[in-house]
Amino acid sequence: MIFTVADDADRLAQALADRLIVEAQAAWAHARPLRIALSGGSTPRRLYEELGRRATTLPWQALEIFFSDERAVGPQDSASNYRLAYLPWLSQAPPGALIHRIPGELGAQAAACAYEDILQRAAGAGRDLDIVFLGVGADGHIASLFPGAPLITTRLAQAVEATPERQARITLTLPALVAARRRILLAEGTHKVDALRASLAPHAETPLARLLAQAPVEFWLDRAAAQALCPPP
Ligand code: 6PG
Repeated sequence: MIFTVADDADRLAQALADRLIVEAQAAWAHARPLRIALSGGSTPRRLYEELGRRATTLPWQALEIFFSDERAVGPQDSASNYRLAYLPWLSQAPPGALIHRIPGELGAQAAACAYEDILQRAAGAGRDLDIVFLGVGADGHIASLFPGAPLITTRLAQAVEATPERQARITLTLPALVAARRRILLAEGTHKVDALRASLAPHAETPLARLLAQAPVEFWLDRAAAQALCPPP
């Protein structure tokens, strides 16, 4: 595990945007785009706003954009993870930018099948994901892999049925997260401390812990969330 800690959420977003651009330029120096999967929720909003401020100088040709998960809604829906990135940032993409939106409006099952095809074609062409961005939920979920979700599958994308607490979703599977070259988990605020601590504890069973057991994760935290790295008072 690698931990990068910034003084606050704004500096965290700036530092991660800097790193993302450097990584994209490095990939392009080898004549290929950096393939990234964007996370949803609310945490990445600052990052997308920061990237939006840099849209005119971004190496768009050096980015191929996927999504870590999506709600089973259309792109205009306020719950859409695509919309979260589109409004401040992706709306400024030039024509031809490589952006693979998960068609949540088709419903979870159909959208998962469509996304599976996109991911399998990319993987089949040796174009596995380079970086998957993740957040972490209070229950230790990552993407839309919630506690109790089936984690053993040969698929790269799966549908997540609605529950009384949350709408249906489409998510990268645990094998897809493990197969990616790197995983970056972004967390900010003291409200993330308990979830991080619980997943970093020995013998933890949260979805984040299950991922950590199979692949390294790079944690990008602000100072508030990084309190999780210290023993509880
Ligand atoms: C989603 C996200 C989800 C999110 C965590 C953290 O679609 O909601 O993919 O996994 O990253 O729930 O959410 P916050 O960033 O809002 O705390």
